[in-house]
Amino acid sequence: MTRNDGRASSPITVNVPGASYSILIEEGLLDRAGQAMERLLAGRTVFLLSDTTVWSLWGRKLLRSLQPCRPRVILIPTGERHKRLATVEKITSELAQHGAERSSLLLAFGGGVVGDIGGFAASVFLRGIEYVQIPTTLLAQVDSAIGGKTGVNLTAGKNLVGTFYHPRMVLSDPKVLQTLPQRQLRAGLFEAIKCAVIGDPDLFTLLETERDSILNCRPEALLNAIRACAALKARVVSLDEKEGDLRRILNFGHTVGHALEAATRYHRFLHGEAVAWGMLAATRLAVQHGRLSGSEAKRIDALVASYGPVPSLETIDSAAVARSLAVDKKVREGKLHFVLPRRIGEVEIVAGIAPREVIGVLKELAKANPFLHSKQRTALPARRIQP
Ligand SMILES: NC(=O)c1ccc[n+]([C@@H]2O[C@H](COP(=O)([O-])OP(=O)(O)OC[C@H]3O[C@@H](n4cnc5c(N)ncnc54)[C@H](O)[C@@H]3O)[C@@H](O)[C@H]2O)c1
Ligand SMILES: [Zn+2]
Repeated sequence: MTRNDGRASSPITVNVPGASYSILIEEGLLDRAGQAMERLLAGRTVFLLSDTTVWSLWGRKLLRSLQPCRPRVILIPTGERHKRLATVEKITSELAQHGAERSSLLLAFGGGVVGDIGGFAASVFLRGIEYVQIPTTLLAQVDSAIGGKTGVNLTAGKNLVGTFYHPRMVLSDPKVLQTLPQRQLRAGLFEAIKCAVIGDPDLFTLLETERDSILNCRPEALLNAIRACAALKARVVSLDEKEGDLRRILNFGHTVGHALEAATRYHRFLHGEAVAWGMLAATRLAVQHGRLSGSEAKRIDALVASYGPVPSLETIDSAAVARSLAVDKKVREGKLHFVLPRRIGEVEIVAGIAPREVIGVLKELAKANPFLHSKQRTALPARRIQP
């Protein structure tokens, strides 16, 4: 496999059986989106899916750049609670009503919710039409838009219905992140820290040294971080499309993260924030099991804490966390499988960690709350601007 260099300006490529596609990451790319997709747009009917928030902020800019192509716009309400089958029915009905054919193209323009539901709708409409991801949250640019996992939630749980269906292209413009609320930006940055710990020590150093620039959305630092994450995910997915052992390393911080989200009924934490606690827990477990040195653990703890604040673990029901851990997809033959750091840039999958040990670690973390003592307390200037 060709190694994607996340720091070069050339496109990053995902190569999976039956699909190969480029991820373009450039400041101001939204203004050139039409040009970047020229060959894909030519001669076909184009549909553009977005949520109402993203559309009101950036829709006009994207439409202008797509000209002379005039896509039909399909808008869905903002928010995770709309990531469900009823919304897929609405989207696919609109596609049908407006004459979409096998050759039509769907552009999914928004955060992970729009990307997941757009990809899913594209995968099932007429048994599959092509689509492009244009992610607008940091989480979507570093993670969800890459790798072909699509889906919706059921009342019984998140992402229970879905497909593996890769886009034809991913277009990421870090400029759109200027309007993203700080909390959402930080949540995405925890996924970037995850990428650094599992496979990119240089990214780890970048996140350490350029923290303030990144949190202030300074173009170069943010662009380098996004490129490195996208390159890492593209590499992992290209080697292991459907979650064999390699792709599972992307779950670092997620075993506990998912349990915390479920135990708080998805109200207290953004996904990335729960993953932040999950990474701290996994780091402690790795030290306790003699698999990670104290000095490396300290660096991981400090980096995670410096990208806070994150809601606390106070009053979390341990029994509910334990129950969620038990039903997690990462339980195999009754034992928890954990992704634990071995050193910065390398993780391993360790079997046989007892849920009660995890609960013990969470209790310690709740007491210590590293987010209260880190440099995140340095105030950053307000950053919400209009495009
Ligand atoms: N497919 C995958 O591999 C994968 C991986 C991780 C997460 N996910 C999914 O991603 C979803 C979460 O994605 P998310 O965090 O992007 O949430 P989201 O799509 O709900 O976006 C978060 C909020 O930010 C707003 N927003 C988006 N872009 C904006 C911008 N540029 N400026 C201002 N506001 C903006 C949205 O309208 C929304 O209110 C979850 O459903 C999760 O399951 C999927
Ligand atoms: Zn995640």
